[in-house]
Amino acid sequence: MDEIRIHPAKLHQMVNSLWQHAGSSQSEARKIADHLVAANLAGHDSHGVGMIPTYMTSRALGNLQQNRELRIVKDTGAVLTVDGQQGFGQVMAAEAMELAIGRTRELGMCAIALRNSHHIGRIGHWAEMCASAGFISFHFVNVVGDPLVAPFNGSDRRFGTNPFCAVFPRPGQPPLLLDFATSGIAYGKTRVAWNKRATVAEGNLIDNHGQPTCDPAVMHETPYGSLLAFGLHKGYALAVMCEILGGALSGGKTTHQDSLQTSSAAIFNCMTSIVLDPAAFDAPEMQQEAQRFIDWTKASPQAGEQPIKVPGEWEEEQRAERQQHGIPIDANSWQQLCQSAREAGMPETELAGYQP
Ligand SMILES: NC(=O)c1ccc[n+]([C@@H]2O[C@H](COP(=O)([O-])OP(=O)(O)OC[C@H]3O[C@@H](n4cnc5c(N)ncnc54)[C@H](O)[C@@H]3O)[C@@H](O)[C@H]2O)c1
Repeated sequence: MDEIRIHPAKLHQMVNSLWQHAGSSQSEARKIADHLVAANLAGHDSHGVGMIPTYMTSRALGNLQQNRELRIVKDTGAVLTVDGQQGFGQVMAAEAMELAIGRTRELGMCAIALRNSHHIGRIGHWAEMCASAGFISFHFVNVVGDPLVAPFNGSDRRFGTNPFCAVFPRPGQPPLLLDFATSGIAYGKTRVAWNKRATVAEGNLIDNHGQPTCDPAVMHETPYGSLLAFGLHKGYALAVMCEILGGALSGGKTTHQDSLQTSSAAIFNCMTSIVLDPAAFDAPEMQQEAQRFIDWTKASPQAGEQPIKVPGEWEEEQRAERQQHGIPIDANSWQQLCQSAREAGMPETELAGYQP
């Protein structure tokens, strides 16, 4: 058995229960399960339930703190600074977005900077919250002190996979959603490839000598290599801005000698988000104008086997397929997830009920 398929509702139940066994409140466990299963449903297995073993290690090391509340550090109305107190990012980012959405309803816009949060997972999830409220958002994120990516023209890892995300809501249609790591591929995708004993596409990795490689093992076995930023100097430059706007502007940390984490299981994110109400602009034709552009762009003659898509469409397709056929999980990741459930204190009788 190389892979199992599990129904999203069953996986949600398992993850929810796992975290309650591990000591999370009902509300925290539900929010973690909501986020992780939604990441798998959106096709981003790198940020789905496969993260749980890492979270369990981070918790055991005392880095990830359970049942923490978001702390408002500074509130100037349209600008908020909040502290995640090393709590679950799935809870902290959700609470930060709820705050920002409330302010945007009142004021037309809000900038919120979240610092000191454990891993906030798939950033698209937070943008989708804003889009569901009818709002546009931009998110600049850094990963504190966990260098994986080499700078353009550099040969060793100096900063994280710093994602950038932007969303544009469309009434009656899925939003346009840009959501990616500034590394050519997300670190989690090297984990998924490594677990499957597969290689990754060219141009994404270098080994410990700075030489190009397609072997994901360089990210998981010593001596470590590095990821490369996407798009040469452009992706690198965007990663730098995510580091500064995410890590420094939030009052959190950027990555440097003094902020290096002692364990790769300790994943801390800072995120600066800007949320805008499109109704606050003078653009009554905004939606039609956006649609005209999409129609124009999609009218380009198709060059290869794949159709032209707009940002966010790939995730919509994944969701439709996975809702129908279940979420695929490779055998290694499934075994690791079951092991985490045992460590969390889930009885074997309950665990047996989730087996395919
Ligand atoms: N929390 C963290 O520290 C952290 C760090 C890095 C990445 N991440 C998350 O990892 C996830 C995966 O990142 P990734 O870099 O592997 O993403 P990716 O390379 O799969 O790119 C995804 C983006 O590209 C768009 N896209 C895909 N195919 C397209 C096409 N044919 N035409 C137009 N647009 C298309 C998608 O809609 C989406 O916006 C993201 O959700 C990101 O937020 C989180």
